[in-house]
Amino acid sequence: MSLHRRISHPGLQNSGSPEWRVPLSETCFTEEEVEEVARVLRSGWWTNGPETQALERDWKDYLNVRHAIAVSSGTAALHLAFLALGLGRGDEVVIPSLNFVAAANTARHFGAIPRFADVESPSAPLVSPETVKRAINEKTRGIVVMHYAGYPCAMDAMVRLARERGLWLVEDAAHAPGASFRGIPCGKWGDVACFSFFGNKNISCAEGGLVVTERDDIAEKLLPLRSHGMSSLTWDRFRGHNFSYDVSAPGFNFRLDDIRSALLRVQLRSLDRFNDLRRQRVSWYRSLLGNDPRWILPFEETGGDTSCHLFTVVLAGSAPREAVMSRMKSEGIQTSIHYPPTHQMAYYRELNTSQDRLPVTEELGRRIVTLPLFPGLTHEQVRLVSSSLRDAVDGACRHAGMRKMA
Ligand SMILES: Cc1ncc(COP(=O)(O)O)c(C=O)c1O
Repeated sequence: MSLHRRISHPGLQNSGSPEWRVPLSETCFTEEEVEEVARVLRSGWWTNGPETQALERDWKDYLNVRHAIAVSSGTAALHLAFLALGLGRGDEVVIPSLNFVAAANTARHFGAIPRFADVESPSAPLVSPETVKRAINEKTRGIVVMHYAGYPCAMDAMVRLARERGLWLVEDAAHAPGASFRGIPCGKWGDVACFSFFGNKNISCAEGGLVVTERDDIAEKLLPLRSHGMSSLTWDRFRGHNFSYDVSAPGFNFRLDDIRSALLRVQLRSLDRFNDLRRQRVSWYRSLLGNDPRWILPFEETGGDTSCHLFTVVLAGSAPREAVMSRMKSEGIQTSIHYPPTHQMAYYRELNTSQDRLPVTEELGRRIVTLPLFPGLTHEQVRLVSSSLRDAVDGACRHAGMRKMA
């Protein structure tokens, strides 16, 4: 069976959805990923073993951190982080509402209460020490920050706040591999950081995650929990290092396998190049869409080196967003919403954890649109998306105006 491939950037192969002229994201890989996966398949050792150990060494070097532990997903990484930090029933944890739901859901599995924090402004949609402070109370045990769209939060101030209040700090760095703040990589600031390698991330192995920490006590706790709390791995026993094992704690199967690890090792070698290509595409968008009263382009003034995971626009309040997205869809351009606010999801509405309203997040929840962004996106495609957005906003506003007049 032959694989569907589309080459849209020299040296990169993109397997995209053929029905979209411009999909939201595309996986990028070279022949090397194919060869490395084939090599591991032929080796006969597919589960967690030497490739995963090598991947963990690669990440330790890349991020310059003491511990990097590969796991089966970003959500598994968050789960292990909360477990190692001792999150418990009735504890509260501050989490941005403008976020994928993984951190909040995971906190709920511990019986903990997510207390949602607002973001600063439509042009800087990140949590800040000020917005986090508003959600802290006497039951708060920790803070989760998320480097939304790949733009780092102000981590120096956030670390100071966490220390002052005696709270732990987790970085959800799913959007931010390769990003940094004040020259220090995202992932190295918090007590623990969690990465995801789901298919739409800056680099991917289909499903996978990573827990990173500088703290030996945390690494020691969470390492066995990744594999049922067992004292030795199947790989150790295969190599004849152990006949048996003990179980120190009731852990999980959150292991990453060697096939995905091999794939991710190659992807990691491409990360800086992929991020450069993303940054270039964002600069194309900014020069085509900048300075326009019909929308705001967030992050024009945010500090830190971004991994450009997402490119979002915040439509003017008067623009009917669903009509704009539908018009773009009819032209074959895929758009999305990152994110519908977590505190407004049915489950969390019912849980009613947000004492205060989160006005900026709620505003963004109505106005934000994500445009296609991936390393193989061509200049022509960026022009097409930009002119489609312009026409869609004008057309949808005209239509809405006519309906109002009728
Ligand atoms: C910000 C954020 N956190 C956590 C996750 C969860 O990662 P995963 O899908 O690998 O479990 C995602 C993923 O999709 C994410 O975007």
